[in-house]
Amino acid sequence: MNEMTRVSAQPAYSDAASKALARAPKLFIGGEWVESTHDRTLPVIDPSTGREIGRFVDASDADVDRAVAAARQAFDDGRWTGLPPIVRESMIHKLADLIERHADEFAELEAIDNGKPKTIAAALDIPAAVGMLHYMAGWTTKLGGETMAPMAAPNGAFHAYVRREPAGVAAQIVPWNFPMIMATLKIAPALAAGCTLVLKPAEQTSVTALRLADLVNEAGFPAGVINIITGNGHTAGDRLVRHPDVDKIAFTGSTEIGKLINKNATDTLKRVTLELGGKSPVVVLPDVDVAATAGGAASAIFFNAGQVCVAGSRIYAHRDIFDKLIEGVAEAAKGWTVGPSLDPATRMGPLVSDEQHARVMDYIDQGKKAGASIVTGGDAPSHEGYFVSPTIMVDVKPEMSVVREEIFGPVVVAQRFDDLDEVAREANNTSYGLAASVWTRDVSAMHKMCAELKAGTVWGNCHMMIDPALPFGGFKQSGLGREQARQGVEAYTELKTVIIAL
Ligand code: NAI
Ligand code: MG
Repeated sequence: MNEMTRVSAQPAYSDAASKALARAPKLFIGGEWVESTHDRTLPVIDPSTGREIGRFVDASDADVDRAVAAARQAFDDGRWTGLPPIVRESMIHKLADLIERHADEFAELEAIDNGKPKTIAAALDIPAAVGMLHYMAGWTTKLGGETMAPMAAPNGAFHAYVRREPAGVAAQIVPWNFPMIMATLKIAPALAAGCTLVLKPAEQTSVTALRLADLVNEAGFPAGVINIITGNGHTAGDRLVRHPDVDKIAFTGSTEIGKLINKNATDTLKRVTLELGGKSPVVVLPDVDVAATAGGAASAIFFNAGQVCVAGSRIYAHRDIFDKLIEGVAEAAKGWTVGPSLDPATRMGPLVSDEQHARVMDYIDQGKKAGASIVTGGDAPSHEGYFVSPTIMVDVKPEMSVVREEIFGPVVVAQRFDDLDEVAREANNTSYGLAASVWTRDVSAMHKMCAELKAGTVWGNCHMMIDPALPFGGFKQSGLGREQARQGVEAYTELKTVIIAL
């Protein structure tokens, strides 16, 4: 695709989506839609066109305080934790069912707001959000403590046990790349653990979180258990992070902001989990089926236009197969049809924002200036909307910014290697440690590499397989703590040790 290629026009929105976009800017606090205390709003932008299509509230400090107060009261008066676990479980299932009932509308809104293809939002994002709620709902009736005996006391002198209690009020700050998946990844375990919460979606993508808020009362949640507010990170987000009545922060986003949040949460010593950036390696050994692996490596970087924390953004291929593999990835890139989010032919939509588009194009430029060669892509194929072509760069060196930094766009850098020790060293030569994949049919090399790679998730012969039942999180500067699975619910709890002399 070259500069002259124009992507197709964004099809018309459905009536349901238009109605949702036309809603008055309000916040969901204490089970009600409330007005902000000031009149500052932010635009909803369709990244396929660059046009403003709605407005939402940029929450004030007073709005944030009100949301936290609602969550605090709902936690403290026991209207959530006091309910039988089975009742709480069924409400979470009900919320999932309601989202599913409106799945088509959610998929369309997600596509319009974020830019991802509606076909993919419908096949993946919305079902995954529903699945996250169902999976976590089950923990509500299964979490518990344990009984233990002190080691230094005579047997039977004490009755000692460990209770698992909810952490309290959770503030949850999420990014724009998978708005519904991120929202449910945060909401679901908090609810299962017995916490109440305030969720703040990203300023680029607030539409589906607000639509989700419409369903909270219908699902039966008591007022104040789930509060959803919109606004800027450096104002509303920061207020949440520093708020004395918030007990726990869960954040997904950039490593830079994750570090800042961790610092700002220290004064009140909040419990913090962080899911941050990555620069995940795709390590390809010489014995692979090159054609199949090339398709996998292309999906690892081009899916969601590369705006994925675990995107396979560094390919390391063995010298013997390097050229053939890169040829295969370039061939596969042609199948990632770039277009507007509502066009059924689109496989890769625009980037989320003008800002992200500029960032990614700047990285491509930095790569070129530093001596990298572009195998395919490197251009912005339309002047309307935030499109970038699938891009492959070779002739890169370990110290280049395109190799070291998270680009968060459809841009992959590829390097050759000769032996396993060398590739393990290079793959680990990064401040990140979120994910990695290894491609080989050699069982022994597979397990050896999986042990060597310093990352929270390592895949073999696949990439990006993420499941609510499996823990997810980062080594090194890719995060703190784990989400999903039992560990993800436990992150919303405190342990209380009870020791009674008999
Ligand atoms: P960001 O980290 O600034 O935004 C994520 C969330 O944090 C948003 O909800 C935002 O409102 C909030 N936030 C921002 N500043 C805050 C503060 N001081 N206190 C509390 N909350 C705050 O990410 P941004 O700027 O949208 O994207 C920049 C880069 O971050 C991307 O290019 C990408 O490299 C990385 N990123 C990584 C993500 C991941 O999934 N790991 C997701 C999104 C971005
Ligand atoms: Mg948007």
